[in-house]
Amino acid sequence: MSHAGSPVPLTARRGGPLRGRVRVPGDKSISHRALIFGALAVGETRVTGLLEGEDVLRTADAMRALGASVERTGEGAWSVRGVGVGGFSAPAAALDFGNSGTGCRLVMGAVGGCPIAATFDGDASLRRRPMQRILDPLAEIGAKAVMAAAGGRLPLHLEGARDPVPIVYRTPVASAQIKSAVLLAGLAAPGATTVIEPEASRDHTERLLRHFGAEVTVEPEGAHGRRITVKGEPELVPALVVVPADPSSAAFPLTAALIVPHSEVILENVMMNPLRTGLITTLREMGGAIEVVDARHEGEEMADLRVTSSHLRGVDVPAERAPAMIDEYPILAVAAAFAAGTTRMRGLHELRVKESDRLAAVADGLRANGVECEIAGDDLLVHGNARVPGGGTVATHMDHRIAMAFLVMGLASEAPVAVDDAAFIATSFPGFADLMRGLGAELA
Ligand code: S3P
Repeated sequence: MSHAGSPVPLTARRGGPLRGRVRVPGDKSISHRALIFGALAVGETRVTGLLEGEDVLRTADAMRALGASVERTGEGAWSVRGVGVGGFSAPAAALDFGNSGTGCRLVMGAVGGCPIAATFDGDASLRRRPMQRILDPLAEIGAKAVMAAAGGRLPLHLEGARDPVPIVYRTPVASAQIKSAVLLAGLAAPGATTVIEPEASRDHTERLLRHFGAEVTVEPEGAHGRRITVKGEPELVPALVVVPADPSSAAFPLTAALIVPHSEVILENVMMNPLRTGLITTLREMGGAIEVVDARHEGEEMADLRVTSSHLRGVDVPAERAPAMIDEYPILAVAAAFAAGTTRMRGLHELRVKESDRLAAVADGLRANGVECEIAGDDLLVHGNARVPGGGTVATHMDHRIAMAFLVMGLASEAPVAVDDAAFIATSFPGFADLMRGLGAELA
């Protein structure tokens, strides 16, 4: 696996325009959930368009280790035979989630509601990330974590609840991972489990739970928040899950098409769930030409997007928008580097606990390529200029999105941009380099 292998350096350089029509791989959030909910349903769930990236494959392995049968039947086509809510059996070995916070945290929730114990582990990046935010609500439900490293970090051994208790949990941060872990554990509890979030985070868990037959209610809470309740002990019924293209992956060719002169790229089947489209809103405010060609609804909102190169200008991105574009700040910072004037991105504290400290990694990468920026509290300010010098080598810190963002920068900067390790791109976007080369990008 990439996290154990030697680094794969990659360099992007300026060339001709980007042109073509592409479909990026399936959505990572929905792919993890399709496998987990399939494993909790009784009978056969079929999934098409599954993201076959390393993160999701780890979740598939975990579902097998917990007793479900998970099979690949074709390209992106998977079949899961589940064991029912509360039906997981204890895994024989530690569950290794590699680089994936989503897989690890959601499965911790699902295991937390079962009377079994399991050890959770991951790579060096995942071992640095906070897990106490999941362990706190799971403790209220009745699960117990032992052997946790300092600050509730991996590896840890989780003893699920023998008699899970339904709770009302107010999440301190808007995090779909925390929300989903609590709802997954609550599935096994008798009665209603409620999560209250301060701002609405991506709602794929709520949508998919309903799709699998659970009773879920969602009500507004305060100015931007939500109160989500799931009725416990449902019999989840197997369902067909059609996974749309991941907007967080589409973000890279999309931004590349905006900043490389004379480009025109069509991105097919992009999920347009409003809790995921903050980047598109922001890039349009910056003057980006992003046209929705064919808006439709197939389980999730979807569209084809036509993107043409644009002169961008700096904007102020409000903190409330962060949950709807939390994974997109590295690539937005790259767009901002090419924009006229300053872009201020507010309220980025959660970026410090992603696959890397993304606030620091982005600022270092920008500076290494001659772009002026500042971190002010939780805000990032990027002082843009249509002429970006480039010429730097970016430390990716085991973070796929840092690697992809700065490779996109190199397609439009004066001098090439190198990344020290492109291997982690395979966690979320296998085939990234080939897809970009197919559009005309020079990556070698
Ligand atoms: C995800 C939620 C987000 C996001 C991650 C995927 C999910 O994390 O960064 O890539 O699928 O629930 P947080 O919930 O921690 O913000």
